[in-house]
This record gives sequence, C-alpha cells and structure tokens, in this order.
Amino acid sequence: MDVYRELYRRSIAEPEAFWAEAATSVTWDRDPVRVLDSGRPPFHRWFPDAAINTCRNALDRHVEAGHGARTALIHDSPVTGTTSSVSYAQLLDVTARFAGVLRGLGVGKGDRVVISMPMVPQAVIAMLACARIGAVHSVVFGGFAAKELAVRIDDARPKVVVSASCGIEASRVIPYKPMLDEALRLAHHTPERCVILQRPQAPADLGDRDLDWDEATAAAEPADCVTVAAADPLYILYTSGTTGRPKGVVRDNGGHAVALAWSMRHIYGIDPGDVWWAASDVGWVVGHSYIVYAPLIAGATTVIYEGKPVGTPDAGAFWRVIAEHDVKALFTAPTAIRAIKKEDPEGALFAQYGVSSLRSLFLAGERLDTDTYAWATGVLGVPVVDNWWQTETGWPITAAPRGVDGVALRPGSPGVPMPGYDLRILDPAGNECAPGQDGAVVLGLPLPPGALPTLWQDDERYVASYLSQYPGYYLTGDGGHVDEDGYVFVTGRIDDVINVAGHRLSTGVIEEVVASHPDVAECAVIAVPDELKGQVPRALAVLKAGAETTPDRLEREIVAEVRGQVGAVASLKQVTVVPALPKTRSGKILRAAMRDIADGRDTPTPATVEDPAVLDALRRTLRPQP
Ligand code: COA
Ligand code: AMP
Repeated sequence: MDVYRELYRRSIAEPEAFWAEAATSVTWDRDPVRVLDSGRPPFHRWFPDAAINTCRNALDRHVEAGHGARTALIHDSPVTGTTSSVSYAQLLDVTARFAGVLRGLGVGKGDRVVISMPMVPQAVIAMLACARIGAVHSVVFGGFAAKELAVRIDDARPKVVVSASCGIEASRVIPYKPMLDEALRLAHHTPERCVILQRPQAPADLGDRDLDWDEATAAAEPADCVTVAAADPLYILYTSGTTGRPKGVVRDNGGHAVALAWSMRHIYGIDPGDVWWAASDVGWVVGHSYIVYAPLIAGATTVIYEGKPVGTPDAGAFWRVIAEHDVKALFTAPTAIRAIKKEDPEGALFAQYGVSSLRSLFLAGERLDTDTYAWATGVLGVPVVDNWWQTETGWPITAAPRGVDGVALRPGSPGVPMPGYDLRILDPAGNECAPGQDGAVVLGLPLPPGALPTLWQDDERYVASYLSQYPGYYLTGDGGHVDEDGYVFVTGRIDDVINVAGHRLSTGVIEEVVASHPDVAECAVIAVPDELKGQVPRALAVLKAGAETTPDRLEREIVAEVRGQVGAVASLKQVTVVPALPKTRSGKILRAAMRDIADGRDTPTPATVEDPAVLDALRRTLRPQP
C-alpha cells in the first residue's frame, strides 16, 4: 500500500501541488497559474484563472496529434440489430456541425440545452457540441415521465431541447416525442426550438418549434471550440435528493477534465487506444463521466450500448459485445451482473462467447453483494473492482485503483479513498468514529477537482443539503465505516434516497404521487431488498376513513399513477395498506425504523415512538417472508 499511501497523503497535504501536476494531462486554452481559490468558503473553485474547452480535450487534440483515424465510438445496438463506429476525425466533424446547428439557433456560452435521448451516438454528439460552444447541457434520463422532464426544464430554462422520436426498450418502442410535448405543456418555461432525431422505428410528427436533426445538421456550418473559464459550468445533472425536487448538480470544465483524465489512467488503467465500455445510460452520472467524457479525454474507444444485459440474444449479450469489440474493461452496476447470473448461473455463456480481451470488471452505482462479487470473479477470471461514488462527485470517492501499485481488492469494500477525498466517519455528535465503527461518511472540504462546486443557481440549497450538518465537511448521505487498514465499507444511504437497479430515486417524489390518491390519508415509501434490483420501493398507505377501495384496486391505481408521473424506472409494484404509520411523539414518521423492519433487522422500539403497537403491527406486515 506504500505507493498508494504516499499518493493519497500528498493529495490531502499538498492538494495544489498534486492537482497542478495532474493538470498537465489536459490541454488548456490558458494554463492555470493558481490551482485553488478558497477565497469564498465553503465554496471552492479549481483552476480559477485557467481557460479550457472540454470538447477540444475530448476530440480536437487527439485529431491534431495524428490520431484522427482511431475509433472514438462504437455504437452497438442489439435492439435495432445494428453496430457502427466512428473515428475521432469523424466524431469531430459531426460534433462541430451539430455545434453549428446549436449556434445557428442562437445558443451561446452559458445557455442551457436539455438533452433527452436514447443510447445513440447523437446523444454523445449533442453533449460534446454543447461543450464546444460553451453551452451548458442537462441530460435527462429517458425513463423518466413527462412531469419529471418538465420539472428539469423549468429549473434549467433551456433555449433548446434535443431529443429523439423514440427510444427502444427490450420489448417495446417508446415514442419520446409525445412525452416531450407533454413535458413542454406542463412546464412554465418554453424553449425556443426542439431538435428531433428521427428514428425509423417510430418517426415523430414535427411541429412549428421542431427541427429535424439530419436536415439541420446537413445545412449547418461547423462551429469551432469556444474558450471558457475552467470554473464555468459544463453541465447540470439533476439527481434525486430527499425531497421531491431534484437537485441540479453542477460540473465545471477544468477540474472535471483533470479529474476524469486522472481517474481513467490511475483508477481504471485505461490508455489511449484501449476499448472501454461503461454499460450505463448517458442520463446518469456514470454515463456522463465514463461513457462520454473520460474515455474520450483519455483518447480511448468508448462503446455505447443500446440494450439490456439479458435477452438479445441471451444472457451472454454483454460477453458478445466484449468479444466482438475487444473490450479491455467493462463498467456496470451489480444489478446487471445479477440479471446475467440469474439466467446463466454457471456462467457457461462467458466461455461460449470466447472473451479474451477483458482485463477488469468495474462495478458501481449500488452496493456490491458478496455473492455477485464471488460469481463475477469466478466466471470472468479478472479483478472485479467495486468503486463507490455519486452524481455529486462525478468520479470515484473510493476504489482499489488498477493503475496505482499495491491496493489489493478486499471483498465487501469498495476500496480506499481516492486522491483529494479527505474521507472521515463521524458519529451524530460530529466526533470521528474508531475503525470498524459505523457512522456518516463525510468528506473534508475542499472536495477535489471534478466534484460539484454547487447546485444550479442554488448556493443556499447546496450548503443546506451537504455542508450544514457537519461544518467543514461534505455529507455524502451514505453510512459506513473504515477498517484498520483504511478500507472503506459503505452500508447504504442514511437518508431517504433509494437505489433501484442502480437508478437513484427519491422516496419523496414517489410519496407525493401516492399521497395524491383520493383514498390515501397518509403514506410512506421505503426501500425493500430485491434479489435482482438490490432495492425496490414499497408504498405503505393509510386509507382515509370511509374509503371504499380494495387493496388490489388501490395498488393498481397507485402503481399506474407512479409510472405515469415519475416513470417506469421507479419500478413501484407493491402498495400495502396499513392501519397507521409509526411516528415519534412529535409526529415525525419513523422511516428509519420501517426500513430496518423491511430489511429484516430487528431494531429495538425507539424511545420516541408514539404507539409501540403500530410498530408491532408493521413488523408482522413487513417482515420479509422466509
Ligand atoms: N427509456 C424508457 N424506459 C426505460 C428506460 C429508458 N431509457 N430505461 C428503463 N426503462 C423502463 C424499462 O423498460 C422498465 O419498464 P417496464 O416496467 O415496462 O419493464 C422500467 O423502466 C424499469 O427499468 P429497469 O430498472 O432498467 O429494469 P428492467 O427490469 O428493465 O432491467 C436490469 C433490469 C437489471 C437488467 C437493468 O436495470 C440494467 O441493465 N441495469 C444496468 C445498470 C445500469 O444501467 N445502471 C445505471 C447506473 S450505473
Ligand atoms: P448516483 O448519484 O446515482 O450515482 O447514486 C449514488 C449512490 O449510490 C451513493 O450515494 C450510494 O448510496 C450508492 N452507491 C454508488 N456506488 C456504490 C458502491 N460501490 N457501493 C455501495 N453503494 C454505492
């Protein structure tokens, strides 16, 4: 561990020297002189006097260095039965053209563009095109319903929305355009134009506000890179908080490029020309960082996969992609591996597809259970590397880095803290916990480059959500401990954020929908364990006096309503009618106690509980069946 320990020590003791050195791996429009501006605590800005263009770092500089013919992106789409690839030179050409389309629509530095796209190369092109002209993109995951898209449109106030006519899920084609139209009907903000990629599976009717992607691009003049300040925003990515209102996580340009370049080389062990595959979605942070920006900044080849881990053609779908494109490292969520393991428990398909290029499997997005870890290690025969982080940080907080000597894998732990993350475990009084003792996982300020500088136009909420509970520290929202050797163990969220198949959701947003049902007096949504998805939401509803519904009908109606208002991805399937919800004497609903019961943990009845009989009744209802 000596090499790692020295590297980490230096990053905490001498952060400016550490990151100034890391900063030499990116191409600046104006080199940084100052590394960190801490003049307005608790806000910190990395590379405050530098200028950069992220798209130049992802594309132009590789072409200028003579690597234009190298494959930049492979689109593998079993749902459409197509595979295609583009070189760096080709990706630069189409990106510059699309940047020209946006510029022609009046989009300039600092203007927002909302992107809601399926897993097609145009999603990457649209993101890079925004970066190219200094516009701020906000990608919204396609699995959210119109209302969620509307909320994000209202917060980001985009000049232009970029979308596609449809997405293609395993079993059905999902028209996106009606959803976009509905979102724009619900939103108070009206974007000036929408650019729509027409897909043959379900072409859309275009209205006055809409432009056809292909037609607009064919007519466009390519746009060059616009220099922006390193601290200017590159994107906003909305993520679930504990309330129904999503948080707009801001990412800057300079710190982000530096951190991602460092992580690609040192955590993931990826060099220029390597083929890398992050099987996630561009709508999530894993997609932003490791489908789009990090592999391209590193000069690697990124695979963009439009499909599921099982089904097309079988549970060897991932192995086929790896074998066909010589993928060196795969990054996905444990849930995808569980889905494969369920269909092919012996892992026979891995050998059948003849995978030989794979060197590592990286897993993140949710807790990696030991069964999945053991299965993947046994079947794949490569290191299986858990890494823990979140939308806010943009890159791993902990990992067992592949490109740093001496950090062995420790099953059950997502590794050791990465440079710049001054990780501590605090008890409720703010004292540091002893090794092995669980507490809140917090990070000392300043956070390293790449992590969020604030929330979009909401410094106050940034401070209230993350920095106020333990002054001087950023609250991750996760609980856990550190062992004697410095390995971190993450036990799960200690707030009301839940994680369903690697998708982060707020119980608050689902509760709002459940509570709006006319027969529901009050409700709580908690996460319960699920064999495939890790967790799934479960709603507990107390009926209004005199409500004449049946439990089945109530469940059917609420499930449909959550699907319609939050999106299919919420995966709410279970609504349980309960006589009452356990509360403290001051009336606060005891969600933590309900979570414990649903997880099968027999916690003592809290001294503050209003009526212990309510908790007993819940124990009988919620206790997992053997
Ligand atoms: N657009 C529209 N709908 C979408 C969507 C999208 N981009 N993504 C998911 N959905 C829909 C699905 O079709 C599904 O609908 P259904 O209820 O009609 O079947 C629903 O949302 C739930 O999707 P999902 O949570 O993905 O469950 P699943 O049963 O379809 O698949 C897994 C389960 C495990 C195979 C899948 O979640 C997976 O591959 N996960 C990989 C991990 C991952 O991507 N994590 C992201 C962070 S790293
Ligand atoms: P997201 O912001 O969508 O990436 O979700 C972040 C949350 O997912 C974290 O706060 C954790 O609760 C959970 N998470 C992500 N990676 C891991 C991991 N490797 N182990 C345990 N939990 C994880």
